[in-house]
Amino acid sequence: MKKLNVNKVVPGMILGQDVINTDGRLLFSKDLELTQKEIRTLKMWGIPEIFIDLKSHKDSQEDIGNGSKDNPQTRQFLDNWFCNNDLKNPVIETIYNLCIDRLGNNLFEFASLPGNKKKTSRPHNDMKIKPVKDIHLLIEDDIKLPALPTIFSEINEAIKNPKCSGKDIAAIVTKDPSLSATLLRIVNSAYYGLGQKVESLEYAAMALGTRQVSSLALGITVINYFKGISDSRINMQSFWRHSVACGIAAKTFATHVKGVVAERVFIGGLLHDIGRLVFLNFYPLECNSLVKHSLSSGSFLYRLEPKHFGMTHARFGSLLAKNWNFSNRISQLIQHHHDDFKKTPPKEIAVVAVSNWLVNAIGIGSSGENELPALNMSAWKSLGVPESLLDSIIKQIDRQIVEAVKFFYE
Ligand SMILES: [Fe+2]
Ligand SMILES: [Fe+2]
Repeated sequence: MKKLNVNKVVPGMILGQDVINTDGRLLFSKDLELTQKEIRTLKMWGIPEIFIDLKSHKDSQEDIGNGSKDNPQTRQFLDNWFCNNDLKNPVIETIYNLCIDRLGNNLFEFASLPGNKKKTSRPHNDMKIKPVKDIHLLIEDDIKLPALPTIFSEINEAIKNPKCSGKDIAAIVTKDPSLSATLLRIVNSAYYGLGQKVESLEYAAMALGTRQVSSLALGITVINYFKGISDSRINMQSFWRHSVACGIAAKTFATHVKGVVAERVFIGGLLHDIGRLVFLNFYPLECNSLVKHSLSSGSFLYRLEPKHFGMTHARFGSLLAKNWNFSNRISQLIQHHHDDFKKTPPKEIAVVAVSNWLVNAIGIGSSGENELPALNMSAWKSLGVPESLLDSIIKQIDRQIVEAVKFFYE
């Protein structure tokens, strides 16, 4: 028998002990073979861990991840994970096969749900959803949404000026010693691989470009701004791994897609889910209700958000980015990252949308969604990247993510 986190439970596992819900009622009896439906119910009730009978059924994350195509548990898990995608499609097939190796190498992180630990006394369908009425006020009203540090608007103002030099940016950033130190650590990391030690921000701006250094400074400032959010609402480590990985994936795709500005899609990727953080921070109860609604209906969180918040986190994040004076293009990248494109989207929008899907698919971090949506093929085709490149793109993401998360988040 083994105690297992519910987020690691997969269909086919056998319950080793009865499961009692928060009201003390028997939810499921010992020896039950779990299906996706029971796993959803466990999460809906906020059951953190269950006992799995390993003798009668050998499933566990380790068993799923023995990295063998012939392992039925690996197959079962991945067939479930990719159930919204067409496995006959060569892109999906390639990523599916890469995931087999990732599971074998313990590189696949299982999604964790935000806000599902709260007690609930009734199933979700009995609850009335009250949409948030004042979501726009959050943006308009500085009293509710604390302003970003003044250094943020100073950098933003400076880069709007076409004559802004590396020296100007360095002068602003130097005012914040912690931001300066983080920036220099990033610039000197293998992530940028400049080869020689950069000791001044002015030189960093010369080596990488004023815009690149400014974008990094803005990204770090926004991440620091959200550091106060409690981990009980969302696994922040996992959230930022997802976001930073999305930025790195976007930047990596940019090297293969003509006309895409790497730094812009990096920031777009880094901040694409920022709206969700605000939802979680300011509307935790609505978020709990949203998660339960999602688990009971099997719908994606982003599809249900308009009912609860009047808009998706993608739309909200884009309004926030505009309000913070990020460029209109960055705001667009955030706004469209979940779009169901019917026609070929612009390349930069496609890069961020595909990157978001990809890092979810290969199990790097989580922004709270518990299932993998379908890859939008119009977005994928817009990139013009052959699937044979995916292996090396994913390897590059893996190489950079550990160090990058340390720099941006820790
Ligand atoms: Fe998102
Ligand atoms: Fe995301």
